[in-house]
Amino acid sequence: MSMKFPIERFRKAATPLYYYDMELLQQTLDKIKGSVSRYGFNVHYAMKANANPAILRRISKAGFGADTVSGGEIAAAINAGFKAEDIVFAGVGKTDGEILLGLREGIGCFNVESAQELEIIEQLALEERKVARVALRINPNIDAHTHHYITTGLEENKFGLDISVVPQMIQKCMQSKALSFVGLHFHIGSQITTLEPYRMLCERINAIQDDLERQGITSIKSINVGGGLGVDYDDPDKHPIADFDPYFALFHNHLKLRDGQQLHFELGRAVVAQCGSLITRVIYVKEGIGKRFAIVDAGMTDLIRPALYQAHHRIENLTGAGRELRQYDVVGPICESSDVFGHDEMLPEVHRGDLIALRSAGAYGEVMASRYNLRSLPGCIAE
Ligand code: LLP
Repeated sequence: MSMKFPIERFRKAATPLYYYDMELLQQTLDKIKGSVSRYGFNVHYAMKANANPAILRRISKAGFGADTVSGGEIAAAINAGFKAEDIVFAGVGKTDGEILLGLREGIGCFNVESAQELEIIEQLALEERKVARVALRINPNIDAHTHHYITTGLEENKFGLDISVVPQMIQKCMQSKALSFVGLHFHIGSQITTLEPYRMLCERINAIQDDLERQGITSIKSINVGGGLGVDYDDPDKHPIADFDPYFALFHNHLKLRDGQQLHFELGRAVVAQCGSLITRVIYVKEGIGKRFAIVDAGMTDLIRPALYQAHHRIENLTGAGRELRQYDVVGPICESSDVFGHDEMLPEVHRGDLIALRSAGAYGEVMASRYNLRSLPGCIAE
């Protein structure tokens, strides 16, 4: 299967632009729903991956919750139709203003990451005469074997609480009339391509639950295992939809949920990555010394993942069908040497004006775009 691109639309459009295949997004959502309904699990879409309004509306319509990390995301989630009680709010540095917004909207849960944050949430909830539902984010100290910028579950990271402080924080919630303790939250990292780290996470959670029960804590209503399921960046047409079945089955088989306990997931990348491509035009073909460059009108301001994480997105010449393959470095126009999308790419001969697709760009693409060099933000077609 190969993605069908509306190339004629692209020809007339200004580039760079993000193209979202909404049918593939819908198929992905249907697949996830089918898979979790077997077990009764819940999915909150991690909207940091892509907050394009068309995408958010589609995901909220499908009945998912939203995982947010800022006041801006809470507001965008509500605008897109997510119900307040289905919104969770995570992050190590929630400001007072953001906490107040969450309280006033009545969001489902604050995922708390420090003792001081819990105190501030309590204080603000008391002032507002509200009850804040809170989960405690525990750092499980598991190595997800992914890029060090996107691994989050290790002790050396800034995320989460050490397990040793958790019992007293749960007690604090129990004693406060402004706090309601909901459960435990975990997240080990992103773009995780084997299930082994998740099996270790299940075991860690089982041990933590046993230990808390020994201390008399039995009020854990929900377990949130975060997100991180990876996608196939090398061959998006072979794996347009991530392997959701074995992923959810692993939690069903290894995590010992207590009676009535709910299991939540916060998936971002695996929901949206494969439905998006960054479409860009070739401005020039330049013969360098021993190198040939295809200079395109998209740059690291439109898709920063290659520059920031040494990520590689599959590159296709959409308008070069039938031409002979040649080797190119595909580069953007930004004044930075890291503004490179690919080295030694074999592409059908590239001409000025050709349309190029950078695949699997639906997650952490458009949403991370910047106006560096005072460039315009990329456009978008969602259909
Ligand atoms: N939950 C929490 C607490 C998170 O920190 C994240 C992602 C997610 C869920 C969603 O993870 P996902 O299912 O999308 O892997 N910009 C980077 C990825 C940063 C991920 C940050 N946290 C990239 O482009 O690879």
